[in-house]
Amino acid sequence: MVCLGNICRSPLAEGIMLKLIADNKLNLAVDSAGTSSYHTGEHPDNRSIANAARHGVDLRPLVARQFTVADFDAFDHIYVMDRSNLRDVLALARNDRDKAKVTLLLDELYPGQHREVPDPYFGGEQGFEDVFLLVEKACTAIAGRLH
Ligand code: 4NP
Repeated sequence: MVCLGNICRSPLAEGIMLKLIADNKLNLAVDSAGTSSYHTGEHPDNRSIANAARHGVDLRPLVARQFTVADFDAFDHIYVMDRSNLRDVLALARNDRDKAKVTLLLDELYPGQHREVPDPYFGGEQGFEDVFLLVEKACTAIAGRLH
């Protein structure tokens, strides 16, 4: 799960997937990263933590890191939140095999529509709730498909 800062959207996607994996005893591994290093070493944004907590998802243990080329080897699939993340991750791809692993998260729900998970960082509380509902829906679809 990849976004820009790894403090709002992608840790939320990781936290939701971790809960789905635990609740449904799925044999899946998940992690998240940011295309930037702006927030490396930080816990998720307090607004993300508070919103997720209201939905029973605990983001407090998560720590931001930057996406690296090694992630192409470590993971079978790389979900990105928006088109700038897509561009930045694809720019690091070494070959077509790496590129084929990368898709927009919301393509899981709306194939081919290239919809983006909006960045809630510069907005208000409602943005975090909207992002939660979108990301939860996409993660539930992934967990259902990989069951
Ligand atoms: P995220 O949100 O990519 O969902 O973690 C952002 C976090 C920080 C910044 C931008 C987006 N920033 O510019 O610091």
